Amino acid sequence: MGKWFARLYDMVLAPIEQTKFKKIRKSLIGKAKGRVLEIGSGTGVNFPFYQLALHVDAIEPDHYMRKKSLKRLDKSEIPIQTHLVKAEKLPFADHTFDTVVGTLVFCTIPNPERALKEVQRVCKPDGKVLLFEHVRLNHSKFGPLQDALTPVWSKVSEGCRLNQNTVELLQNAGFIIHTIEEHFKGLFLVIKCVNEERRTQLPSITQQSVRH
Ligand SMILES: C[S@@+](CC[C@H](N)C(=O)[O-])C[C@H]1O[C@@H](n2cnc3c(N)ncnc32)[C@H](O)[C@@H]1O
Repeated sequence: MGKWFARLYDMVLAPIEQTKFKKIRKSLIGKAKGRVLEIGSGTGVNFPFYQLALHVDAIEPDHYMRKKSLKRLDKSEIPIQTHLVKAEKLPFADHTFDTVVGTLVFCTIPNPERALKEVQRVCKPDGKVLLFEHVRLNHSKFGPLQDALTPVWSKVSEGCRLNQNTVELLQNAGFIIHTIEEHFKGLFLVIKCVNEERRTQLPSITQQSVRH
């Protein structure tokens, strides 16, 4: 990511962060317990919201974003260590984390399938995966519109795909999705999963959809 993207990121998002995202982040991040991995921690916007974690390893491959996030470390009461690495190749041992967190990130990771395999590997069996993501809408007009806008949008927003179907990604990877909360008519989802092997063809997904 460029220097300017990192400089402008918080400023551009500030209005929506204050009015909507802050509440969502606070509630989601507040549920992260034990040893926590945060994927693509960007400018560290989630750092102040950790309450129950014992230790957070925050990975962020962009030098400028990570540098900005260092200024937020002292806003957290929880010890946080940042790492300049990609989600596709995590420098952690198998079954290290109790909780993995990701916000607005699976739209940008170039190989999200590979990243989810790594999440599965480093997360403990039965560990939690807590996500807040924007996704492709299941709507006859807006879904195709997101498809059409994605090539241009991803050029100006450092690779972000407007039409990422993160729920499908998670299901294909074998995560058990426990709840999906819809915000902004389903454009943003809070997804809570468990790192379990999908067992059989039996309906193993407990999906509870909450609209906001
Ligand atoms: C839209 S920003 C979101 C930042 C932050 N999580 C938030 O909620 O504001 C996407 C982040 O994903 C990071 N990213 C891009 N490729 C990545 C990868 N391969 N692995 C991990 N993070 C990545 C970017 O550098 C950027 O900081």
